Amino acid sequence: MCGIIAYSGRKEAPEVLLNGLRRLEYRGYDSSGIAVVGNPSIKVVKAVGKVDALGNSQGFSGLRGNTGIAHTRWATHGGVTQENAHPHMSSDGAVAVVHNGIIENFRELKAALKEYVFYSETDTEVIPKLIEQGMREGKTFVDAARDAVARIEGRYAVVALHKDGTMVAARNGSPLVLGVGDGEYFAASDIPAFMQYTKRVVYLGDYDFAVIGKGLHIENLQTGPVTRDVSTIEWDAQSAEKGVFEHYMLKEIAEQYETLSRTLEQDPSVITRLATDVRNAESVVLVAAGTAYHACISGRLLFSRIADKNVASVRSSEFENVAHLIDADTLVLAVSQSGETADTLEAVRMAKDAEAKVVAIVNVAGSTLHRESSYALFTNCGPEIGVASTKAYTAQLALMVLTAYALEGKLDEGRRVLDSARNDVYNLTAVSTREHLKELAETLKSMEHVFTIGRQLEYATAKEAALKIKEVSYIHVEALQAGELKHGTIALIEKGTPCIVFFSAANKRETLSNAHEVRARGAYVVGVGPEKDEAFDYFIKVPETGLCNPILQIIPMQVLAYQLAVLRGKDPDRPRNLAKSVTVK
Ligand code: M6R
Repeated sequence: MCGIIAYSGRKEAPEVLLNGLRRLEYRGYDSSGIAVVGNPSIKVVKAVGKVDALGNSQGFSGLRGNTGIAHTRWATHGGVTQENAHPHMSSDGAVAVVHNGIIENFRELKAALKEYVFYSETDTEVIPKLIEQGMREGKTFVDAARDAVARIEGRYAVVALHKDGTMVAARNGSPLVLGVGDGEYFAASDIPAFMQYTKRVVYLGDYDFAVIGKGLHIENLQTGPVTRDVSTIEWDAQSAEKGVFEHYMLKEIAEQYETLSRTLEQDPSVITRLATDVRNAESVVLVAAGTAYHACISGRLLFSRIADKNVASVRSSEFENVAHLIDADTLVLAVSQSGETADTLEAVRMAKDAEAKVVAIVNVAGSTLHRESSYALFTNCGPEIGVASTKAYTAQLALMVLTAYALEGKLDEGRRVLDSARNDVYNLTAVSTREHLKELAETLKSMEHVFTIGRQLEYATAKEAALKIKEVSYIHVEALQAGELKHGTIALIEKGTPCIVFFSAANKRETLSNAHEVRARGAYVVGVGPEKDEAFDYFIKVPETGLCNPILQIIPMQVLAYQLAVLRGKDPDRPRNLAKSVTVK
């Protein structure tokens, strides 16, 4: 939650920072703000609402300077107000601070800063005040900032800026990466924020403290001086742009033909290594949150069927309930697009404490999850900016499918099957399919409730379809297990109730019989699967592809969710109350 960008170099900082904020807006869009080193003092401009409100403000157009920091906020401590927007300042105006995370001991710190006036309700404001206090005691800005950061308990990514242009950047738990350009430096919550300027990055570790002034100096607050390598990222700048698409969500849905080909470009030895680890483990636990968790449900079904062993899928936020069952013979497979989800990272740490082996399926190289796992399989689908996860989900599923084939010693066959399924992905993301689904969206757009129904792998798809539609269109959608309908939930069906039924060759007979049952109670039945049936009022044909069915069947649902959001006048890229990375518990 919250996005940070900082710049020091020769360019006009306000423009660089505003571009960066636009690329970070998916992390929060309650308010934004910017601080630029001017002469003789730091100039600050803030605005409530989306980043455009900041860019269009009068104050912003008057900003000039080559060094600055900026922030887009997802509110945690304190409401959505101009006062609570970052950057926060020292009382003498010499220091500005942006922060992402939660300072757990901010009340105690604030109590010890009685001589200072606080203008916001945020936890962040203690940081500039602590730095100011240290400087009043005679410390340099850098020493005072180091001491202030050392006193913070909790998760943080912080950048503090002094009016002389020196910046410090520190992190623990929340993401922060440095960009190294030609005579210029960037610090940001995520690489796309500065990717158009440089592809050379330095991943900061927990407790790293970087000083950006005439050069770059990094130390670790726990271990002392450190050397951090400069890596070159492979994403191209365009992958973080909307291009011809109106929204990132639609662009990312449409990209899946291409992103899946990059997922397929895996080092086969890594897939085989995971398959071997699954085989050798006494038990396997797949852990993730949200959409990534739905990929884990599919993974559980695939692995337990093929590896013939105890495989569980657990939501990250519930992991502590099973932590006592984890030991050195357990393999924990953590799945995440961002690699920064707080609940998933906490689950990983619990698993490591229990000496389990932790492997990651992750999209962001250099993320905390990547660094904290024994090794990682990368989904390789480029930056996912839309808050609703789409291309990352199908890439996670693709890796599950490849691993399942590898478990049977048939990795090459798995690659061929996936490669041929990509042709169907192409058709399902085509403009003609989007137009076809618009008709269905027109029918559903005013509905209060929709049910998605499936069994086995298709139940995972039903759950993901429900989440996708809910989070961007705000229609209530609930996934029902087909086999459970008669045990209670069929009572919800009445005349006109929309039911989207997913089926495949593996369960066609039973699931179609469920479709007839809900139809007989008046439901408006949408069928998603390989062939038409008379139970359907509306049919979405998705070819049968065995283990790849979940990859293909979710795509029309992503498109439907998008169409519903647009028809209902909602912004699919920035759903209310949500942020892309949930870095707080
Ligand atoms: O970055 P992660 O994959 O760990 O994120 C997990 C969830 O927060 C994420 O999937 C969330 O549910 C999305 N909004 C779903 O579209």
